[in-house]
Amino acid sequence: MLYLLDTANLESIRKAYDLYPMNGVTTNPTIISKEKRNFLDILKDIRKIIGVESMLHVQVISTNAEKMVEEAEYLNQVIGGNLYIKIPVIHEGIKAMKILKNKGIKITATAIFTAQQALMAAKAGAEFVAPYVNRIDNISGNGIGVVTEILQLFEHYNLDSKVLAASFKNVQQVHLVSLAGAHSVTVNPEILDKMLEHPLTDWSVNQFINDWTKVYGKDTLTINVK
Ligand code: E4P
Repeated sequence: MLYLLDTANLESIRKAYDLYPMNGVTTNPTIISKEKRNFLDILKDIRKIIGVESMLHVQVISTNAEKMVEEAEYLNQVIGGNLYIKIPVIHEGIKAMKILKNKGIKITATAIFTAQQALMAAKAGAEFVAPYVNRIDNISGNGIGVVTEILQLFEHYNLDSKVLAASFKNVQQVHLVSLAGAHSVTVNPEILDKMLEHPLTDWSVNQFINDWTKVYGKDTLTINVK
């Protein structure tokens, strides 16, 4: 399982990379626009925090294949590192994926709502496909079901593409796509924190500290360490 953070907020990225075993950051035009700064500065700052090895997924905004390719090549040149260009699974997007694959630029197919969209994107050369779990659930669909179907299709046709499950509203959705075998998830900072939280964990830790402190005092475990 690869963990990615779905945000362009630098403070959240610093915190997650400090605490958790992170593999990358995903952005989209909405996420970047929330930061209200020059988008290239934001992306360069993210790259500085996460380093060149960590995955950074950045989306194009054009809806025409030639322009998508131009944007992808530009981002690859100015941001660099382990960069994935997110391309929506519209008709022109599939065309752009085929061209970018030939140019050796890594692709994440995005805005996926059906397993057939993911299959077509994988055949066009996408390394990752990003089904929008919660947005599917929001229209009375079955987000987990779509993820499961994509995994079945990739196995059935022996495709190397990986599922980057996206758009989560709660930890249970993340849990269910993990059980289904999704290769990676991208979650917002709040959900990432919540994936660990449990009141009985906090209660247990507090009890351990109280019991220890009553007998040995505070901060005593390493008292003899020089
Ligand atoms: C990531 O690739 C998607 O853009 C993102 O997860 C969408 O999430 P949302 O549905 O919470 O906006």
